[in-house]
Order: sequence, then structure tokens, then C-alpha cells
Amino acid sequence: MTYSSNDEAIKRAGELVRELSEKLGRVPTAAVITFGCQMNARDSEKLTGILIQAGFSIISEESADFVIYNTCTVRDNANQRVYGRLGVCGGYKKKNPHMKIALCGCMMQEPSVIEKIRKSYRFVDLIFGTHNLYKFPEYLVNCLEQDGQIIDIWNEPDQIEENLPVARKYPFKSGVNIMFGCNNFCTYCIVPYVRGRERSRDPKEIIRECERLASEGVVEVMLLGQNVNSYGRGLENPISFPELLREIEKIEGIRRIRFMTSHPKDLSDELIETIRDSKKICRHIHLPLQSGSSRILKAMNRCYDKEKYLALAKKIREEIPDVSITTDIIIGFPGETKEDVDETIDVIRQVEYDNAFTFIYSKRTGTPAASMADQVPEEESHIQFDRVLAEVQKYAKKQSARFEGRVMEALVEEVNENDSSLVTGRLSNNMIVHFPGDESMIGKFVDVRLKECKGFYYIGEI
Ligand code: SAH
Ligand code: SF4
Ligand code: F3S
Repeated sequence: MTYSSNDEAIKRAGELVRELSEKLGRVPTAAVITFGCQMNARDSEKLTGILIQAGFSIISEESADFVIYNTCTVRDNANQRVYGRLGVCGGYKKKNPHMKIALCGCMMQEPSVIEKIRKSYRFVDLIFGTHNLYKFPEYLVNCLEQDGQIIDIWNEPDQIEENLPVARKYPFKSGVNIMFGCNNFCTYCIVPYVRGRERSRDPKEIIRECERLASEGVVEVMLLGQNVNSYGRGLENPISFPELLREIEKIEGIRRIRFMTSHPKDLSDELIETIRDSKKICRHIHLPLQSGSSRILKAMNRCYDKEKYLALAKKIREEIPDVSITTDIIIGFPGETKEDVDETIDVIRQVEYDNAFTFIYSKRTGTPAASMADQVPEEESHIQFDRVLAEVQKYAKKQSARFEGRVMEALVEEVNENDSSLVTGRLSNNMIVHFPGDESMIGKFVDVRLKECKGFYYIGEI
């Protein structure tokens, strides 16, 4: 069946869930298991919203009546984890034959993955990709109505769907997609192949969504895109990312604005000034370095060199003194030598990152780097990885401690998992502080004295 609107499909899904409910003698359950980045997390909120509207009760266990895995393929270990989970879930299905298992997300855009699932994971009921997520209500109906594997993968998107129901994980903060896809084709990266070409959302739609979120009590938005600095290109009336930020800043009720990710090649002076002059834009810039060696950066197609990156980081630190700068680093890109890693360590020492995610290079089939000569042996990558990690941790500790003793505003996110007399708040610079409090403070801003830095987080008091 195809449906002319999502509302119609969700209504039909609701009827089917009610039938299942009568058969089971209880409300059917659904679980959404998410891998990967903030984009996927946001997509999962849409999947969850649809499942709730259809009448499922959402749980986190993979023994649910309907389980969907929203997958990531940026590194091979992300893929392997999905196959591992799938094995466990297949075991549940043997005991509960009425169970339905679905797969979606970036991994599904790879033909070799689909082939493998067709062959070795026959028990999977539904597979779709990144470009047709908005069709989920219709797929859900078909999947509940019939047996057999449903597979629908598109090579490119046909529209930006604006009106899907969303179930937010936090009532007080939310991700907001401002663009989809990526045009940068860094030579190691699979994202452009599985997420398609870069498309910016209409600024009016973004503003409308932020206004609606504010009216629902959201105080912090995280603007999401693979390279937010190129936002607005290709729109009918092009606008720049700083312009968009200034528009969102005007929305009453929104008190914090974050964004992810900023590609160094497109980060403008205008953006630095906009952050500097803003009361709402958070003091945190994630500025992926990938490598400090200009030679490797060129092979990676990053479009900046070591000097340009260092100059940019210096300018940011000068203009916005309280800012925290975090980064991503890849170790073991084809042809990388110890000397190249020395260059990366030199950048770490000069920028003094507040935090950094370090990854061992993972070969992604179909990317240019996969067929480059001089793939680095794994043992060598591990040795270099440890060198870089030690350096990163040294500076992260030093930078984290620089606010000790200060009073800063924290947004309370949750009751501390290990000690329920404490709550956990996030500072503008993305650092975490634990301090005495209770559940009633969740979603509120409080001024906290940062008493003691414990490495990567603070212990504080109101
Ligand atoms: N668009 C963002 C990055 C998205 S992917 C940017 O350009 O900054 C998140 C991180 O995963 C990247 O910054 C990179 O460090 C890492 N990554 C991507 N492909 C990888 C690969 N093949 N192997 C190891 N790490 C990779
Ligand atoms: Fe991948 Fe580069 Fe695009 Fe980031 S900018 S998603 S690393 S291709
Ligand atoms: Fe992974 Fe896709 Fe994000 S590959 S990192 S989930 S865009």
C-alpha cells in the first residue's frame, strides 16, 4: 500500500497496533536503538515520534515487539556493533515470532551491507535508508500487515520533509537540522556517499521550528549540519550561517544556541564576531583538525593547511577568550608517518584543546583513501594513537581546570546517575558540573560555583 499522507499512514498503523494489542493482551512495545552522530540522534527522535503516534509504548530493551536500529557507518567498528546487536535481537525473535525488526540509517546506503543482510539476516523485516526516512509511517504499516523482507533504498533524496512528529529526548533542549548531506568529500569519509549532496533547509522553516520549540519550553537548540559554515549556499535567497544565527538569537525563550560541526575551511571572521557579540551562542567551537600535517591534510582533501588552521584557532582564542575549542583527530591515514604525527602533536600543543576525539583511521570501501598506497599497519596506528591521546589528555586537563573557582551558569540536565543527591548541569563551554540539587531543577539555569575540577568535569555548589 502507498499512502498520500503520513497522517493517513500513521492512522492505519494505529489500527494495526490496536489489533496487535488485543492479540497480545497488552500495549505493544517498540525500541529505537541509535548509533552514530547527532544527526542520527535527531532522526531517531522522528522515528520515536512516529512509533508513539502509532500507539507503541517506547522502551529501551531490544526484546520489544518492534525494534529499529538507526545505523552509522563512519568507521567499521560502528558497523560491527550493529551486526552484533542484530545477532542478539534475532535470538529474541526466535522466541517471539510476532516480533518485527527494522534497520535504517547510513549503513543501509551501502549496497554491500544490503547484500549481506539479504543473505545472512533473513529475519530482518524492514530496511530503508537515509533519504526516505520520512516514509517510515508507510513502511511501518506494510511491515505490520505482511510477512517477508521489505527493502527500499533510494540513491538520492526527493524532498526535505518538514512535518514529521518528533519525540524529544529532553524537554528543555533539542537538535535542529539546518542542512543535510555533505559536499566536501574528505578522502577518508563515507558520509557524502551515504547522506548525499549538501542541502540547506529554508531559513523560515528553521526559525519556525525554533519558535515552536521555544513555545514548548525548549531553552537550548543545537543546530546540526556536517559543515554548518557553508549553510545557505544554493538557497533561492542565500543567507549565511552567521545571519541565520542572528535570526535565531532574536527568538524569545531560546537562551542557548549551539552548533555542530564547523569545518575550518569555511569558518569566517563574521562567524567569530557573531559568537563574540552574542549572549546566547555558546562558548564552544568544535573545530575538527583531522591532522596537523599539511601533507596529510592535502591528501585528505581538507582544503586548509597547518598554518591556516593555527591562525584560525589563535584568532578564535583571542576574540572569544572563554571559548572552549574541541576537535577530531584521525590517526593512521594512508601514508602517515611518525613525523606527520609529530605535526599533529605540535598543533595540539599550540591550540591547547579543551577536548579532542581521536580515531584510528578506518578504511571505507568506495572512498578515495581506501585505494591509496601505504595503508598504515594497525599496530603502528595504535602506537601513534597512544602518543596523541596522552598529549590530548594533558591539555584537556589543563584547560578544564582554568575555570576553577569561577561562578558560571549551568543548565541542569539530569539527576546524577551515581549519586541522586547531585544534579548534572552543562556550562556554556560544554563542560559538565555536578552539584547538590534535585529533580525539580531539571531544565533550569542556575549559577554554580566551580569548586573543584576533577579532570574533565567539575564538582560545584549553587
Ligand atoms: N562533518 C564533520 C565530521 C563528521 S564525521 C567534519 O568534517 O568535521 C565525525 C568524525 O569522524 C570526523 O571528524 C573524523 O574525525 C571521523 N572520521 C570520519 N571518517 C573516518 C574514517 N574513515 N576513519 C576514522 N575516522 C573517521
Ligand atoms: Fe566527512 Fe569531510 Fe563531510 Fe565531514 S566534511 S562529513 S569529514 S566529508
Ligand atoms: Fe555515522 Fe551517518 Fe552520522 S555515518 S557519523 S550516523 S552521518
